[in-house]
Amino acid sequence: MAKYVFLPILISFLLPFSSLALTQDFCVANLLLSQTPAGYQCKPAAIVTANDFYLPGAIPPITIQPFNISFVPAYGSYFPGINGLGLGGVRIFLGVNGVVPLHNIPRANEIIFVVRGTLNVGFITSNSNVVYTKRLSQGDIFLFPQGLVRFYYNVGNRTAEVFAVFNNQNPGIQITDYALFGNILPAEVVAKVTYISVADVQSLKRFFGPRTLGA
Ligand SMILES: *[C@@H]1O[C@H](CO)[C@@H](O)[C@H](O)[C@H]1NC(C)=O
Ligand SMILES: *[C@@H]1O[C@H](CO)[C@@H](O)[C@H](O)[C@H]1NC(C)=O
Repeated sequence: MAKYVFLPILISFLLPFSSLALTQDFCVANLLLSQTPAGYQCKPAAIVTANDFYLPGAIPPITIQPFNISFVPAYGSYFPGINGLGLGGVRIFLGVNGVVPLHNIPRANEIIFVVRGTLNVGFITSNSNVVYTKRLSQGDIFLFPQGLVRFYYNVGNRTAEVFAVFNNQNPGIQITDYALFGNILPAEVVAKVTYISVADVQSLKRFFGPRTLGA
């Protein structure tokens, strides 16, 4: 009996985080309080401003070497207004020869819009390893289903830019090369579980690791 009484209370406690659009207009992240597994707590409405929903175009991007790419996150602590809305975005700049190497976005579908430039993109299905690839240019849109490994790389003669949107405020990213060679496992163990020679693993570890991409 007791659990039926408490269920509505439990649901009303979870709602502001999990589907707040049903109960309130927004829940701008209060960055002064610590993050919960479901996102940030809400900033008091009286101190919410238009800047909480705005990211200036001039924000300097974060660079990832050695891939010749950089990015401006539009999620999490970078973009307080998006907290709780089940949505995230990122601007990605690919310099000449820039590559977003094979990676997985574990917690979101991804749509990209090509702002400028020319790039090749693709993803690989689970189980059957079917590959879907496409060359994209300015104005094109491409969709990557959740959880599948994917890549993009610049094939143009100038910087390419895409805007990616995710149906999760914290979509996560796991770059396959970092997962394999940016970890602290001994080279012998990585060689064992990848069937790549110890010498090659050592050389790949020098190139990729050790590495984390932060939150
Ligand atoms: C990285 O991108 C910049 C900007 O497009 C370009 O000038 C540079 O040559 C690229 N570096 C490599 C190694 O291709
Ligand atoms: C890059 O420049 C070369 C040489 O000018 C040209 O042949 C090629 O079509 C250009 N590639 C793209 C994607 O614009």
